[in-house]
Amino acid sequence: MSTAQAKAAVLTGPSKIEIREFPIPDIGPDEILVRVEGAGICGTDVHEYKRDPFGLIPVVLGHEGTGEIVKLGKNVKSDFGGKPLAVGDKIVTSVLVPADDPFVRDFPDKANLSESLGVYGLITDSPEYHLNGFFATHIVIRGGSTVFQVNDLNFTQRILVEPLAVTVHALARAKTTGLLDFASTVVVQGCGPIGLMMIATLRAHGIGNIVAVDGVASRLEMALKVGAVKAFNVKDLKPEAVLAEIRALTKGRGADFAFQCTGVPAAAGGIWKFVRRGGGLCEVGFFVDNGPCQINPHEDLCKKEITAVGSWVYTPQEYPVAIAMLRHMASIGLPIESLVTHRFPLAKINEAMAANIAMEGIKIAVTSE
Ligand SMILES: NC(=O)c1ccc[n+]([C@@H]2O[C@H](COP(=O)([O-])OP(=O)(O)OC[C@H]3O[C@@H](n4cnc5c(N)ncnc54)[C@H](O)[C@@H]3O)[C@@H](O)[C@H]2O)c1
Repeated sequence: MSTAQAKAAVLTGPSKIEIREFPIPDIGPDEILVRVEGAGICGTDVHEYKRDPFGLIPVVLGHEGTGEIVKLGKNVKSDFGGKPLAVGDKIVTSVLVPADDPFVRDFPDKANLSESLGVYGLITDSPEYHLNGFFATHIVIRGGSTVFQVNDLNFTQRILVEPLAVTVHALARAKTTGLLDFASTVVVQGCGPIGLMMIATLRAHGIGNIVAVDGVASRLEMALKVGAVKAFNVKDLKPEAVLAEIRALTKGRGADFAFQCTGVPAAAGGIWKFVRRGGGLCEVGFFVDNGPCQINPHEDLCKKEITAVGSWVYTPQEYPVAIAMLRHMASIGLPIESLVTHRFPLAKINEAMAANIAMEGIKIAVTSE
């Protein structure tokens, strides 16, 4: 064990983060020691911070992270895509897929649904491993992890890879319904970072008629910049008035497809009204159990024959897609990097969380220095 110390932001209780020091451990032959550069705050981090719905406390949060390899175990030769790895490389991490899970063996293309799936930044502190999340100066990446070398992306792009993988997966799930095409009118409800990235992802895939719905004017302005053509504010309009606006755009029918990107039960129940008969819906926003919502199975589902799909994280195979999409967005002038509006140093992580909760800006980054 070396004597050098790492700093990590440990969530020790609801809304309570303490910066603690841990010895930087000697790594094993299958491990990687990464000096963290920073990570974005996700809506899920905020749910964890407020009330620990996953029961992870004590935990070092931060899963939208990136950093530089400072030590490489002797058995680690390449990243998940086969690129050689070396000290100094910039990396991002995807999910930890337990290869010996019988579910993964039986459904290898559905590894994201394994009950024992791991995500760095959502792993409880243990005596063996303290440096489990990217809200820290260092993180220890274990054998069997899915790591990607991303030397050619800048810091802002690198912290957007993880949430973009979420929206890449949501788009893939939506496409399984066969209900999305170039002419579709698509509603994205919730314009936090996930909803905005959903809009940008749809736009990057050639879908033009995107309608954004949120209650924060600045977020709706951003929605128009990253690809929406209409934006409706639920602070100004009642749900029936939003529905009337959507119908006015769609020959009186309703949207062909809708993505639910809030973690709010009333929104998850209300979105069904926005979808036309025979249309589709993708539920993205409920990564955390924020409680049930009410739908009318007659009006909302049976009579309309809506096809609904859920979307749960992503597979490691979707990381290269997210990375390619980032480059494509840059090439078509989609200002995706403008979503990262704030940076706070690790020592000010409580202020960063407060800014996020107050919805100041869009994507808030916490940097290790
Ligand atoms: N499915 C997945 O794999 C996955 C992955 C990451 C995050 N998530 C979830 O996605 C959700 C969104 O994440 P985020 O980082 O964008 O969070 P966020 O809290 O920043 O954004 C949510 C947005 O929804 C808006 N909203 C709230 N009620 C609304 C309503 N009635 N109508 C319209 N808009 C409304 C808010 O104003 C806000 O802009 C979170 O709940 C998060 O847990 C899911």
